[in-house]
Amino acid sequence: MPKLVLGVSGSISCYRACDLARDFMRAGYEVRVALTDSAQKFVSPVLFETLTGQACLVDVFDEPERGRMAHIDWARQADVLVLAPATASLLNRVAAGIGDDMLAAIAIAYEGRIVVAPAMNPSMLASEPTQEALRLLEARGAVIVEGQEGDVASGELGQGKLAPNAQIVEATLALARASRSLAGLRVLVTSGPTREPIDDVRFLSNRSSGKMGVAIAKAAWTMGAEVAFVTGPTALPDPRYAKVHRVQTADEMLRAALSEIGNADLVVAAAAVADYRPAQRVEGKLRRGDEPMALELLPNPDVIANLAQRALPQATLCAFAAEPGEGLEEARAKLRRKGVHAIAVNDVSRADIGLESDENDLALVTEASEARSGKMSKLRCALWLLENLAALHRERGAGASLAEKVGEAGV
Ligand code: CTP
Repeated sequence: MPKLVLGVSGSISCYRACDLARDFMRAGYEVRVALTDSAQKFVSPVLFETLTGQACLVDVFDEPERGRMAHIDWARQADVLVLAPATASLLNRVAAGIGDDMLAAIAIAYEGRIVVAPAMNPSMLASEPTQEALRLLEARGAVIVEGQEGDVASGELGQGKLAPNAQIVEATLALARASRSLAGLRVLVTSGPTREPIDDVRFLSNRSSGKMGVAIAKAAWTMGAEVAFVTGPTALPDPRYAKVHRVQTADEMLRAALSEIGNADLVVAAAAVADYRPAQRVEGKLRRGDEPMALELLPNPDVIANLAQRALPQATLCAFAAEPGEGLEEARAKLRRKGVHAIAVNDVSRADIGLESDENDLALVTEASEARSGKMSKLRCALWLLENLAALHRERGAGASLAEKVGEAGV
């Protein structure tokens, strides 16, 4: 039975969380409840414990199983975390990473996508910090179930009432479906720049930060995939949930990626591979001189084109294209040249997205279709991209099995 943690904070609407806990149980979840101190002023943990048959967690030092650190334990075991009702205080603390009570600590330790149903006074909801917190949480993949307009406890009319329970359950089930859309698939991601050495202290490289590749690895993991991640040098920490290969050069990237290709169902090439490398690497350090100097460059192997030749027949491959402007036709030509099934196009003439930025805006081009993500956080873009690639992979699989069936029938 999937495990759901319901985080209840101190809005007047927290009495509705009692029904919500039961609704989630009816939807097939084992429900455990964590309450903030303020929530306990409105409803007692005993009520939730009786309704759910599970012990509640309330204090940050609660330790039902000694030595297991309950906030980490609950966060790891949860298939889904729902904050409903989520007050301004809870939202702001979770967004800022302040785990000063049990519920906030669980939410910060939780690595999947959170469902958030805000409930508060309209002015608190409209306030800058709360709006910023909602934006931050959404950029990190949270699903926000918007509150309703109506008369709130203070007697005002406005936005801020907790969404109907049915909507919160529906959003949670939709997220659970999305979280399974790559279940059982193995995803290979290339990411970051490569560094092509000139001598022992200098190299050719580019401005890729690796953020998009990390977002794709994380998104693939939250959608249930097993992830292999081949990355050039970046300042980002390794994604904890992936098998990581750290490489420097295009040649090393090719070797590491080839070692994974035989296992990959889906390949996403987000790396900004240097197209050329110095013909010779100088031992030690090139010395300064007064004469002009020419650097001879050799073309690097095309990593994704090589992967396309060695991939499993059922594998679906997506490359990226950096285009100044729309570039959809160029992308389609690249699709054929590299032997991939899709190309995600970045408009590199825009300063507000792509290279080094935290946001992106992708166009996904296949032989038969075009789709646009709109401008979003890189994680949101990655989720959007993988949803589309999962659908393409299913379509291709359906096509292949139909062809096999036709073959079997001897038609
Ligand atoms: N790529 C690769 N190996 C290379 C070069 C590129 O795997 N040696 C992959 C990148 O990871 C990316 C895509 O190919 O998925 C980018 O293709 P590329 O031909 O480099 O195109 P652009 O960077 O868009 O630029 P251009 O073709 O204009 O040079």
